[in-house]
Amino acid sequence: MIKNIIKGELSFPGDKSISHRALMLAALCDGESRISNLSNGADVKSTRECLEACGIEIRNDGEEVIVKGGRFSDPREPLDCGNSGTTTRLLLGLLAGRGITATFVGDESLSARPMNRILDPLFQMGLKAESNNGSLPITIHKSELTGIHYESPVASAQVKSAVLFAGLGASGKTSVSENVLTRDHTERMLQGLGVNISVKGLTTTVSKLSSPLPCIEITIPGDPSTAAFFAAAAALVPNSEIILNRILANPNRTGFFEALENMGSKMECLKQWDESGERIGNMKIFHRPLKSISISNNDVPGLIDEIPILAILATQAKGRTEVCGAKELRVKECDRIYAICSNLKRMGADIEELDDGFIINGPTPLTGAKIETFNDHRIAMAFTIAGLITDGEIILDNPDCACISYPEFYSVLEGLIQ
Ligand code: S3P
Repeated sequence: MIKNIIKGELSFPGDKSISHRALMLAALCDGESRISNLSNGADVKSTRECLEACGIEIRNDGEEVIVKGGRFSDPREPLDCGNSGTTTRLLLGLLAGRGITATFVGDESLSARPMNRILDPLFQMGLKAESNNGSLPITIHKSELTGIHYESPVASAQVKSAVLFAGLGASGKTSVSENVLTRDHTERMLQGLGVNISVKGLTTTVSKLSSPLPCIEITIPGDPSTAAFFAAAAALVPNSEIILNRILANPNRTGFFEALENMGSKMECLKQWDESGERIGNMKIFHRPLKSISISNNDVPGLIDEIPILAILATQAKGRTEVCGAKELRVKECDRIYAICSNLKRMGADIEELDDGFIINGPTPLTGAKIETFNDHRIAMAFTIAGLITDGEIILDNPDCACISYPEFYSVLEGLIQ
């Protein structure tokens, strides 16, 4: 039974992907870079601490984070990447390109995630490294890297970015091709810094940096992957509306909002502008009756992190929603296909698990249930939003894991319920 409406106006901490990259690129700069609105989630903290362990000075100055770029040194202890795949994968490339010897470790979830997708191209470039059968712990050794052309077998911005970062320290040219365009923040930021980079279709090429980068000054746009949960809350709860300000609107990241609009939700773009090489926007989202949609291969990179919350919306949409071509979800912070399907079944949804996605027939009323988060922030947040429309309570086994991307998630949501 729905007793409340969702109403309010929000802005969010900086996009997680851009925050990781801003810290890493600032570490390559000559002098002090200033970053505003850095993500305050635990994942970006992991990146900051790993860079500090490699000799990069980072300090807070009021609301800003100041990074003194310069020389990297070998860390004395293993680099703890926590829960963060982006920290691990991008730093593997960046530090390999800096000739650093380091061991990477992480929590239980991260230690089960595939890392050969990064090690394979780095080995081809000449990196010497050992891993635990393609997983963490991984030790990389100071190596001379040579540029390669790499055809990435997985649609992954992390793979693309790791190879490009390694390429900044490799002799000759390094290029990466992908089958589907994935988020392109690395390319945009390198372009903005005046790096010699060419982007032609799905192939990006960089050369060895001949000098340190100029300093960065950036205010990071709000994270659309966090905003998606609040957009979904307004779309699900009758009579709701919400304004989301200063949200990253890079076309490779807006897949969820396009899907929501295709499902029938009313969306108004209030304003859009460009800043630091990225599109940013303010928007308003209103509740409307929802209808089903289909998501396949080519759509997936544009909304990969939003599929858990999309599944919640699909349970309230009229018709058959099919998500396929999303096998990558099986190797995220948890097996997200299983997490979505097992929890939604427990709540009474009509959902069928596929090897690479799921089929949901809607609408069905959802009932309260005990939710297994698998310690995955996006599962915890998606099912909390589902709890806004359930008859009975949602009880998460680990609500705290939301702090990986958005520590204020529960209090901000609480403030919108009227
Ligand atoms: C990210 C890329 C995506 C995404 C992850 C962050 C990035 O992963 O799921 O949360 O910052 O490059 P893949 O590129 O491996 O799909």
